[in-house]
Amino acid sequence: MEAISVGLLGLGTVGSGVVKIIKNHQDKLMHQVGCPVEVKKVLVQDLNKQREVDIEASLLTGSPEEIIDNPDIDIIIEVMGGIEDTRKHLLKALANKKHIVTANKDLMALYGSELLTAASENGCDLFYEASVAGGIPILRGLADGLASDRITKMMGIVNGTTNYILTKMSQDGSAYEDVLKEAQELGYAESDPTSDVEGLDAARKMAILATLGFSMKVDLVDVKVKGITGVTEEDLQYGKQLGYIMKLIGIAHREGEKVEVSVQPALLAESHPLAGVNNEYNAVYVYGEAVGETMFYGPGAGSLPTATAVVSDLVGVMKNLRLGVNGKSAVSPQYPKKLKDPSEIYSKYFLRLHVKDEVGVFGELTSIFSKHSVSLEKILQLPVEEKGLAEIVLVTHQSSLKDYEDILSSLEDLPAVKTIESSYRVEGSGS
Ligand code: NAP
Ligand code: HSE
Repeated sequence: MEAISVGLLGLGTVGSGVVKIIKNHQDKLMHQVGCPVEVKKVLVQDLNKQREVDIEASLLTGSPEEIIDNPDIDIIIEVMGGIEDTRKHLLKALANKKHIVTANKDLMALYGSELLTAASENGCDLFYEASVAGGIPILRGLADGLASDRITKMMGIVNGTTNYILTKMSQDGSAYEDVLKEAQELGYAESDPTSDVEGLDAARKMAILATLGFSMKVDLVDVKVKGITGVTEEDLQYGKQLGYIMKLIGIAHREGEKVEVSVQPALLAESHPLAGVNNEYNAVYVYGEAVGETMFYGPGAGSLPTATAVVSDLVGVMKNLRLGVNGKSAVSPQYPKKLKDPSEIYSKYFLRLHVKDEVGVFGELTSIFSKHSVSLEKILQLPVEEKGLAEIVLVTHQSSLKDYEDILSSLEDLPAVKTIESSYRVEGSGS
């Protein structure tokens, strides 16, 4: 039985896990696809680095061409990250009729459509399950498991690093910088963690999810993004006091033909299905018109969980090879993209303000909300250390984004308002 030969681009956190799973689960892979899997070559940057996995030094190379142009390699697993050079490597590999498995959401969010078209034109598979929510089979869940349904809402905790940080800050009172360092050491964070903490990594994943789930080409620029760097200890504590948990949430919502996609730190009611998803775990809540509510939960980052998704894609390619149906699964989006206007996006909001502690100020604030027909669900007022100031915390009922932005700008202009300390979207009702 001839082995299927695999070339690996990258041998870091995910690449090491891939090599371990291919070695340790060889019997299972053989049983599923009927032939052995052999790692033929591995691209790395530093040939002398100590590796997390036993690998023959002769398999390592610093030259991508040794893999991309290698006639003995059938399938390329891209786990090196990066965008422009990686895109060129993969386009060349597809032109050379290599099937691709990638974990690279940065690349898929920007160039997924181009790469999938190139794959289909070359009769190749291009699978990217690990690019969203690590070890959770969410893309297959949408593309296969829910293929017959019409998806209307996806809400996800899709970044392990920020979920780890917010969990530790909220439950243990840990400092942001300390927990970010831990998340980096545990292999959850990107090589530059800015994309994790500023929400860009989650936005890339939401663009991929929305494109697949709504069958509409949602681009990264269509996703409104806010990260967790501005989240304070006070916000977490006030959230708790009102019955909410802070999470970095991706929301993709379709109403009629129009969609909204966003990523932001949001306060979730403690009873919300996503509120109990902690540490590096991810979860994606999916609502389909026919199926109703479903929830996909699991480890969203880390070596072996992510590698599980990568190797499952590898099995998918190998099964297709046996059936001779590679390159047939990429379906182009069915619907033209239509984005909601801010006047069509509805939510509740949490707002924390420092205002002058004077007679009539509260009335001035509430009249701004009334002018926009937005009513208030919860109100707290407490003195602050700075003399003559009060802290006001509000949770609104449903408001359009347009009205809420107008309210914020009127509040900024109000002389009695010293600072708008924070503002978050709210999902569900707290206590
Ligand atoms: P990583 O630990 O930084 O590993 C990257 C690997 O690629 C390293 O082996 C590195 O070589 C090699 N490499 C990078 N640039 C290269 C270049 N220009 N030429 C040759 N080799 C190069 O990254 P990772 O965490 O495994 O992530 C890999 C990919 O998976 C990324 O796209 C990431 O977004 C995605 N992903 C990661 C996770 C996770 O939990 N870590 C989860 C889902 C998806 P050296 O080892 O010699 O430096
Ligand atoms: N840095 C990413 C995260 C890795 O923390 O979720 C998984 O995509």
